[in-house]
Amino acid sequence: MSSHGTPIPMTSQACGALTGSAAVPGDKSISHRALILGALSVGETQISGLLEGQDVLDTAKAMRAFGAEVTEHGGGEWSVKGVGVGGFAEPDQVIDCGNSGTGVRLIMGAMATSPISATFTGDASLNGRPMARVTDPLALFGARSFGRAGGRLPMTVVGAEAPVPVEYKVPVPSAQVKSAVLLAGLNAPGKTVVIEAEATRDHTERMLAGFGAEISVEDTAQGRVITLTGQPELVPQKIDVPRDPSSAAFPVCAALIVPGSDVLVPGIGLNPTRAGLFTTLREMGADLTYENERFEGGEPVADLRARYSPDLRGIEVPPERAASMIDEYPVLSVVASFAKGQTVMRGVKELRVKESDRIDAMATGLRANGVTVEDGPDWWIVTGLGSGNVPGGATCASHLDHRIAMSFLVLGMATQSPVRVDDAGPIATSFPIFEPLMAELGANITRDNV
Ligand code: S3P
Repeated sequence: MSSHGTPIPMTSQACGALTGSAAVPGDKSISHRALILGALSVGETQISGLLEGQDVLDTAKAMRAFGAEVTEHGGGEWSVKGVGVGGFAEPDQVIDCGNSGTGVRLIMGAMATSPISATFTGDASLNGRPMARVTDPLALFGARSFGRAGGRLPMTVVGAEAPVPVEYKVPVPSAQVKSAVLLAGLNAPGKTVVIEAEATRDHTERMLAGFGAEISVEDTAQGRVITLTGQPELVPQKIDVPRDPSSAAFPVCAALIVPGSDVLVPGIGLNPTRAGLFTTLREMGADLTYENERFEGGEPVADLRARYSPDLRGIEVPPERAASMIDEYPVLSVVASFAKGQTVMRGVKELRVKESDRIDAMATGLRANGVTVEDGPDWWIVTGLGSGNVPGGATCASHLDHRIAMSFLVLGMATQSPVRVDDAGPIATSFPIFEPLMAELGANITRDNV
């Protein structure tokens, strides 16, 4: 089922060369953070290029419920009049974060050190995901939480009356957990320290510095040590959201597997904590180049040019790269199906607790379409069939997961028989213009009559 409606089944079938320019929407991670930090600053933050996907719209609505004035001006321009650190009001309604783990976990962090309570819920996918990874560290600040068995939503978080700063070593590689702790640390007096053994996306750290917080990052033998001084006055910013590398992954990967394709994806954020997929694709022999490399708003940006690559080779993806491409494994497994040899993906246990169990969702769908996939608790191996040799022909379940739906639609662009997705509705959470953008490039994706 779509997050908020009836299922939207779609079928993708072999198409001619994909060509042209694909302007993908703004970065989802940065969009959530821009709204939340805007709401915690004093004055008006202006945001351009905000992702207007459902996940981010749910965060915008939540920020209003906590007292911020969030205004849409059209064309991706938004403004947020913040209430200041510690200024959140208690919402008088349940906060529905829809499908978004990032939304709910970051917002829980942001409110956990204020003397208010809030009740959070989401769709069936989000209500099945683990929240203890966030509520455990928030308890160290003095916050309490009351959820369903297994630490699941719906859940009420009672913010700490007298928060204390914490030192916390993040036990799983998760930017959401790291960010929740940092956002909670904003309203705790003194220094909050977060240590992460493996570097995860660092948008929160960068943006906190931009908003004027005192924050330092040190690489040590234990990992990255992030130190934040609590109770700053955050200064409103002008934020230009770069285009999302995780969304760019879909037209890029489609171009690599569809014969004759040549696609330009302009203005993509290439923060090294996000760009692991592109490095991996190049190691597999992809014809993928960075053009016009530049810096925008403190983030490295380039135009990506992807061309059909008939001689892709399977590789072993270094496990230490996992965090920098964690959302891209589903579409990588599609590209791997068209490569020669095995693509081995290890150290990816986190894929099992995303919007769906992404290893299981992709392995099941790829097998149904004629690809051999082996998998274990934290690894999977795709045995590629080579360009043009993937049978296709099956229906795949998207499990309320946007990236699973888009990955299988990309698969169908180069299989011998069409690939059907049972519900492509969740795509609207992160990439609402996926259908017209892909059609413009030449893809043949149709909505099924239901
Ligand atoms: C995100 C962090 C990642 C990622 C998600 C966005 C973020 O989740 O999968 O899509 O914006 O912080 P984890 O923190 O669970 O790894």
